[in-house]
Amino acid sequence: MHSPDVTAVFDLPDEAATQLLGENLAVAIAPGLVIFLEGDLGAGKTTLARALIRALGHTGPVKSPTYALVEVYVVSSLYLYHFDFYRFESPEEFLDAGFGEYFNDASVCLVEWPDKAAGCVPSPDLRIHLQHAGSARVAALAASSERGASCVRTLTSIREGGNSCATPDRR
Ligand SMILES: Nc1ncnc2c1ncn2[C@@H]1O[C@H](COP(=O)(O)OP(=O)(O)OP(=O)(O)O)[C@@H](O)[C@H]1O
Ligand SMILES: [Mg+2]
Repeated sequence: MHSPDVTAVFDLPDEAATQLLGENLAVAIAPGLVIFLEGDLGAGKTTLARALIRALGHTGPVKSPTYALVEVYVVSSLYLYHFDFYRFESPEEFLDAGFGEYFNDASVCLVEWPDKAAGCVPSPDLRIHLQHAGSARVAALAASSERGASCVRTLTSIREGGNSCATPDRR
C-alpha cells in the first residue's frame, strides 16, 4: 500500500513552543488518528499531549499516564486516549490489558513509548519524534497514512499562516 511521504520539522526553542505545537495539532487532528509520541525521557511528549488536550477544551488536570498506562478524555465530542507504555516489560501487556479496542475510527490515540508495545500496538498514522537540541527541542513529524498526511498538511499550513490556530486576519 502506498504510504504518503509527508514530513515536517519544527524547532521548539522553549516549553511554550512545544505547547503551541500541541495547540496547533488540536486543530489538525481528526477521529481515527493514531499518533506515536517518540523521544527520550523528558523530550516533551507529555508537554505536547497536555497542550493538545487542553486546546481541545479539557479544563481539568492532564496527568502523565506513566503509572495508569492510559488516561481517557472525552473532549470536542471525541474520545482521546493518552497512553504511556514506558513501564511495559513486554509488548504482550498491550494485548493483556485489552487496549486494542481503544484504537478505532471514533477515537484519537496518543502513544508515548510505543516501542514498548512493538508488534502489538496498531501502526501509527503519524509519528512525532521529539529530540533534545541543547536545552531546546526539535520535533520531526512523519506521516504514514493519508489520514496522517492530511494532519501534517493542515498543521504546516496553520504554522505557515502566522503560528496561531485561530487568529483572524483583521485588527
Ligand atoms: N521546547 C522545549 N524546550 C525546553 N524545554 C522543554 C521544551 N518542551 C518541553 N520542555 C520541558 O521538558 C520537560 C519535558 O517533560 P515531559 O514530561 O513532557 O517529557 P516526556 O517526553 O513526556 O518524558 P517521559 O518519557 O518521562 O514521559 C518539561 O520539564 C518541559 O517543561
Ligand atoms: Mg511523558
